[in-house]
Amino acid sequence: MLRGFALSILLTGAVAGCGDHPFHQSMKLGGKEVSAETLNHGRDGYQQYCRPCHGENGDGKGYSSYGLRPPPRDFSQGLFKFGHVTAPALPPDEELIKIVRGGLHGTAMLKWDVPDGELFPILQYIKTFSPKWAAEEPGKPIEVSADPFGEAKKTEAVVLGEKLYHAKAQCSGCHPAFVTHEKLNALTKEMTGTAQTDFSAEMYVSQLKDSEYCLEWKAGWKKIEDRECAKVVKILPPNFTRDKLRTVHEGTELTDLYRTIASGIGGANMPTWKGALKEDELWGLAYYVRSLAEMRDTAEAGKLASLLGDPANASWKPSVTPPPAPPAPPPPGAKPNKGGKE
Ligand code: HEC
Ligand code: HEC
Repeated sequence: MLRGFALSILLTGAVAGCGDHPFHQSMKLGGKEVSAETLNHGRDGYQQYCRPCHGENGDGKGYSSYGLRPPPRDFSQGLFKFGHVTAPALPPDEELIKIVRGGLHGTAMLKWDVPDGELFPILQYIKTFSPKWAAEEPGKPIEVSADPFGEAKKTEAVVLGEKLYHAKAQCSGCHPAFVTHEKLNALTKEMTGTAQTDFSAEMYVSQLKDSEYCLEWKAGWKKIEDRECAKVVKILPPNFTRDKLRTVHEGTELTDLYRTIASGIGGANMPTWKGALKEDELWGLAYYVRSLAEMRDTAEAGKLASLLGDPANASWKPSVTPPPAPPAPPPPGAKPNKGGKE
């Protein structure tokens, strides 16, 4: 059944010229019956607005796609980053609408000003490119719980987020760390009972990661499901004090961050944390990442970078035997950082 589906898509892609209306029957896509009329309508809109990047066959190889990094999504994979569902579930329409309406900052995927009446059919049409949509229903979007902190308690939230980020949720395994060796030593001790004493020379840079997105398929495939990837898309996780975040929009920063951190990023190996961390912990991470993002383009980001890049930080070593408790500890041993902020 899936084979027939994949073939029919290939054929319509190959045979149909501009302005053709190749759909004659409704299709079940994402658990809903979509009429041929909607699909033909969506195809027209897609050709106009999306094809230059996402390609005639939805494979991300449109004429404007070459050299774009990140590359336009190949819809034949049925895999999405910002669907705000537990990956690899398919995103519901309302999330796809948010993606197109909000755009993905820092990429060629801008906010497309497609008329409402066009967008819905376009989104149905892009589902015809992957057999996954015929077989599966979309997942449920991550629910946003009530923020237990609020701006009044944001410092508390940032302190919690900073600890989790570095010492529990392993965010710094892919994203950079943002604390000194000394602080990381103390945070891991506090969170896990064992202090971290070895520090990777790479800990302040993002780690380039292979993703499940495919840039080039091995030639000769017959069925979408049987393709093998020849070249995967590599993704550099953002440095929050420097890079634009794709889905964080002005005015809704915290909720946007909460949703991404809770749901993870499909195909990019960023795990789903909803359920694995407590709600206040998810919110703490959102506050912490927001505090880092707020440093972008400010002197504070530069100050933090020079503190972390300072040779004194690189050569810091935990003291093996704690000093025998002098009456009043001298200033050099005092902890300079009380939390995420000064
Ligand atoms: C100028 C090029 C360009 C055009 C035109 C364009 N896109 Fe994109 N699109 C991209 C790029 C690049 C990405 C990948 C962004 C990323 O991986 O972060 C993307 C990603 C997407 C995604 C995947 C988001 C996710 O969460 O994985 C969807 C859905 C999408 N585009 C829909 C559309 C639709 C619908 C249109 C037409 C209305 C459109 N795009 C037009 C460049 C474009
Ligand atoms: C296995 C690697 C990995 C881990 C672990 C990881 N991330 Fe990510 N994260 C990524 C990648 C890769 C991206 C970039 C995805 C893209 O834009 O294509 C990303 C992007 C993000 C974004 C930006 C979303 C946007 O809208 O651009 C946020 C926020 C984020 N991560 C937060 C976190 C937090 C907080 C943690 C720890 C709880 C974490 N990540 C753990 C790999 C990871």
